[in-house]
Amino acid sequence: MLLNCVIKLYVVCFVFDSITAFIILPRAIFGIILLLAFLIYKCQRRHLSVYDTIEEFLQSRNNLIPIRYSNKQIKKMTNNFKEKLGEGGYGCVYKGKLRSGKLVAIKMLSKSKANGQEFINEVAALGRIHHVNVVRLVGFCVTASKHALVYDYMPNGSLEKFTFSERLDGNPLSWKKATEIAMGVARGIEYLHQGCSMQILHFDIKPHNILLDENFTPKVSDFGLAKLHPVQNNTVSLTAVRGTLGYMAPELFYKRVGKVSSKADVYSFGMLLMELVGRRRNLNAHAEHSSQIYFPSWIYDKFDQGENLEIEDATEDENRTARKLILIALWCTQMTPDDRPSMREVVEMLQGDLTALQLPPKPLFYPPDSPRLVQSNSYSTTSEESTVESVSLEETE
Ligand SMILES: Nc1ncnc2c1ncn2[C@@H]1O[C@H](COP(=O)(O)OP(=O)(O)OP(=O)(O)O)[C@@H](O)[C@H]1O
Ligand SMILES: [Mg+2]
Repeated sequence: MLLNCVIKLYVVCFVFDSITAFIILPRAIFGIILLLAFLIYKCQRRHLSVYDTIEEFLQSRNNLIPIRYSNKQIKKMTNNFKEKLGEGGYGCVYKGKLRSGKLVAIKMLSKSKANGQEFINEVAALGRIHHVNVVRLVGFCVTASKHALVYDYMPNGSLEKFTFSERLDGNPLSWKKATEIAMGVARGIEYLHQGCSMQILHFDIKPHNILLDENFTPKVSDFGLAKLHPVQNNTVSLTAVRGTLGYMAPELFYKRVGKVSSKADVYSFGMLLMELVGRRRNLNAHAEHSSQIYFPSWIYDKFDQGENLEIEDATEDENRTARKLILIALWCTQMTPDDRPSMREVVEMLQGDLTALQLPPKPLFYPPDSPRLVQSNSYSTTSEESTVESVSLEETE
């Protein structure tokens, strides 16, 4: 239309005055084009700076919805996926940097087939929660083929690096730090269970999913990811479909054990706590004595016979702390969900004194690599553990 007008104007001018047609008009048109280009540029700059302000604002406030990033922005932030932090059952995690200079970890959910809107709703809900012991979701990206989650970057990586003696690299966690970490994780899970507007059941509490910031403050990560994954009709409710062998509560395998609830996370926390104190994997086929292969069972029998943990080079106080943590872990890993404490009670136990804790009944330990599970469910293996993606309780009954 604009072109049409210009042509008409041109014809009129040409008829009346050739100077106007050949000198003044082209200059005027050129000027208008320049002005338009300048206005567009200004508008874009303004939009960008508004975007920067929003980003900064969201960074400084902790209770707001995460930012939606484009694929291009994700590429830029990660410098074209230059630094890979690791890989889990759901895809790779890359280090990234926001325009504000803040470091982030970006998880590319390669396997996700979830509906885009569902993903956004879920992310918006999860993005509103904030707790010092829960890793913060900064933003997300949804395109036809890719889903990505942008988290605060945790410089000390995951707890599993520091838990097992074979990985200590001369940098063991002090007993004080280990206790603080146990307390932080318990508080983080308690918040997910009871502290926010909706109850979030994690279902995959394990040392790998506990991230450590620069001060070794633990942050529960990967919460609610299970909800982002589609389920088949023959499986149980969406929230009960994932977990890692060795940390999964028995009711996730055997329907008769009890209803699936927040107590499943309590169980996984108990297993994590046991490993944190034992400084070893709960199941270690290379243990010195065959009785020590399964740590929870070995330590229970020891306590039951009135013995103690006897940690090398530990003070009396540290030995008492270790005993307290193990007793709590034994309560958390009771077979029946109702016999386990709630996460709030766990926090109280951790704050309380050792004398207030009794030895619970012996948990009915079951082999963590139950062949029934392996036969009847689909699972994918990560580097060290088996991550169960879909559990049908009917089949395992
Ligand atoms: N926010 C983060 N900051 C720093 N490193 C991270 C962050 N999130 C994840 N990582 C690292 O990326 C790696 C992969 O994490 P990811 O959660 O994908 O796998 P996982 O926890 O090992 O297994 P799963 O898929 O069962 O959660 C881990 O080693 C972890 O240390
Ligand atoms: Mg993880």
